Amino acid sequence: MASPISIFGHRGSPGTHPENTLISFQAAHKAGAQGIELDVQLTRDGIPVVIHDERVDRTTNGIGWVKDFQYEEIIRLDAGQSFSSRFQGTRIPRLEDVLIWLSSTNLIVNIELKTGYFVYPGIEEKVIALLTNYQMRDRCIISSFNHYSVQRTIQRDSQIETAILLMEKLVDPWEYVKKIGAHGIHIEWQAVDEHLLKNTKFHSIPVRVFTVNDNTQIAAFKKMGCKAIFTDFPGPACTINYSV
Ligand code: G3P
Ligand code: MG
Repeated sequence: MASPISIFGHRGSPGTHPENTLISFQAAHKAGAQGIELDVQLTRDGIPVVIHDERVDRTTNGIGWVKDFQYEEIIRLDAGQSFSSRFQGTRIPRLEDVLIWLSSTNLIVNIELKTGYFVYPGIEEKVIALLTNYQMRDRCIISSFNHYSVQRTIQRDSQIETAILLMEKLVDPWEYVKKIGAHGIHIEWQAVDEHLLKNTKFHSIPVRVFTVNDNTQIAAFKKMGCKAIFTDFPGPACTINYSV
């Protein structure tokens, strides 16, 4: 039975594979996830690459800010070894590499624009152009903690699905979402409550929750009416039997 709540592999399947890498996204797909979430930043020469932190230090064998690397430099870094020596040689993917693979699947992609600390000029346009080129506009959601970035995305392409990211409770976020023209709310699980879900349901605003790694909690969020959850362990999440 297809899962009645969509399961998104948060950065792929980082419980089992190095986060935000192609093999991690492929593992999420293999596990049965309906979607993947990934984080995008720009290299110094303006190439959209998939990596979470503004620095490369935690997930690669390099040191420094993503924004200071040329693409030819950043792809030489090892993004697998710090997770496990089994994954030595894994590279930071370009967004384009992931979209090429995604276009051969039926997965939904949530692209998070990591524009909270640094301005990445033109990132919204570049992401939209790539999505258009690989015919992924209808299977994507663009989100950001930087709501100006969400707004810029909507201004460039009013048809593309967007969501604001929230870490905490906001007063009447359903009004705010409508005001900026976004579609959905992606929210940290501890900030979710019945009041939010009741009102977003009334306004037809989908709520997707991150990051939930416990199957009992996932089932509870489904019962509360959440549209999707982001998990580091898409494998176990996809085995939930919602009928019990
Ligand atoms: O998009 C959901 C989630 O990824 C937001 O937080 O820090 O894991 O990118 P973070
Ligand atoms: Mg993210």
